[in-house]
Amino acid sequence: MLTTSHITIVKSTIPLLESAGSKITEHFYQRMFSHNPELKHIFNMSHQSSGRQSVALFNAVAAYAQHIDNLPVLQAAVERIAQKHTSFNIQPDQYAIVGHHLIHTLKELAPDAFTTEVEEAWVAAYQQLANIFIQREAEIYQKNMASTGGWEGARRFRLLEKKQESEQVQSLVFAPIDQQPVASYRPGQYLGIRVQPSRSEYQEIRQYSLSDAPNGKTYRISVKREQGDIDGLVSNYLHDELQVNDEVELFTPAGDFFFEDRNKPVVLISAGVGLTPMMATLETLAKAHYTHGVTYLHACENQAQHSFDQRIKALSANLNLSAHTWYNHVSETDAPLSAGQRHTGLMQLAELGDALPVADADFYLCGPVGFMGFIKAQLLELGVADSRIHYEVFGPHSDL
Ligand SMILES: Cc1cc2nc3c(=O)[nH]c(=O)nc-3n(C[C@H](O)[C@H](O)[C@H](O)COP(=O)(O)OP(=O)(O)OC[C@H]3O[C@@H](n4cnc5c(N)ncnc54)[C@H](O)[C@@H]3O)c2cc1C
Ligand code: HEM
Repeated sequence: MLTTSHITIVKSTIPLLESAGSKITEHFYQRMFSHNPELKHIFNMSHQSSGRQSVALFNAVAAYAQHIDNLPVLQAAVERIAQKHTSFNIQPDQYAIVGHHLIHTLKELAPDAFTTEVEEAWVAAYQQLANIFIQREAEIYQKNMASTGGWEGARRFRLLEKKQESEQVQSLVFAPIDQQPVASYRPGQYLGIRVQPSRSEYQEIRQYSLSDAPNGKTYRISVKREQGDIDGLVSNYLHDELQVNDEVELFTPAGDFFFEDRNKPVVLISAGVGLTPMMATLETLAKAHYTHGVTYLHACENQAQHSFDQRIKALSANLNLSAHTWYNHVSETDAPLSAGQRHTGLMQLAELGDALPVADADFYLCGPVGFMGFIKAQLLELGVADSRIHYEVFGPHSDL
């Protein structure tokens, strides 16, 4: 039970938390993975080996400590995190493990400040936060189970079809082994996929946005091959190793970023593989013969990396669609676009003039964080209210 004295103590230790910075994160993950190595099958171990440990968990705990006496402020963040957790199938008993290592991390890093009194306050505070997540996640799991085609935990699917959409992007369509219906989803949502790449000692879970309209039978994702000094584990596995008829495990669709029908124009803006939630939305709107104006703005490196160009043309038949694509590099050998108008260089919304429905549309953004920040600044400059701008980050959430 969290008391007012606990609240005062927790708030007084915020500077301690902040001053320890990345040391806390490193110590916490090292501690947790050495005592509970089974969690290596849940967390992204590429992030650990590249030194990119997720600071998101600690930032969330610090934000919680700051707002512990005004929790409604955290509602949107709680919803986003709970949705993400369910795509990993996080379970209540795992909160005790995380809490244990969190408290011991604080104790080990600041033994003098972390008195018995402080420890008691933090234990009570963590329990309250954990209960908030456990409760919301239980609701999401129950709702999934109760929906047509819904399930809980991992469900086995077979790869039905693979298609190259552009130089680095492949679409994969999965059907359940049990041949029963699959749960619907809101366009923009993602699902968790669990695989065991040959290059990995662990099972790996990643999220991929669904890139097609829901059909009750199959799921389609579209995956970019991630290359670097060490190539991305799951994306390269899905591209190169997973063959038609091979099995994967999927968790039910989740996510707080999705198209909401507000009976008005909509503008979808993406860059690179950030086009996947936009494709799901465009497909859904075309199926529904959405009558309001739909504007689709996409940016990519060049024509070789432009996915779904022809599909956009086909969708135009059922939509009041205005499409614009920006290529960072244009070549003389580029074929004309199948649909819409082509621009060169970075996406500058001013090039659209009055064609952009800034007065009333809802705006949905997905792409690299830098790109979305650049576009959001332009939208705000054009007078679009923050509340009409929605976005998805393909990684831990970040404010734009
Ligand atoms: C909500 C959401 C939706 C998403 N939707 C999509 C989608 O629709 N399509 C899509 O393609 N992706 C999507 N993603 C991203 C996807 O989940 C994966 O993050 C992505 O495919 C990379 O995973 P990976 O296993 O290939 O790379 P990881 O193995 O996780 O590596 C991540 C990056 O780090 C680099 N790296 C790995 N190890 C090291 C090391 N030791 N040192 C240095 N660098 C290293 C890799 O090259 C790679 O670029 C989405 C993510 C989220 C959160
Ligand atoms: C109160 C406790 C917890 C808090 C405050 C918390 C917070 C967070 C936050 C903020 C994120 C990033 C979400 C996003 O923006 O995408 C996240 C992701 C995640 N959480 Fe938690 N979490 C908690 C408990 C747990 C538990 C118990 C587990 C399971 C052992 C867990 C596993 C994960 C995983 C695997 C991710 C994804 C990490 C990644 O993509 O790199 N979390 N959590």
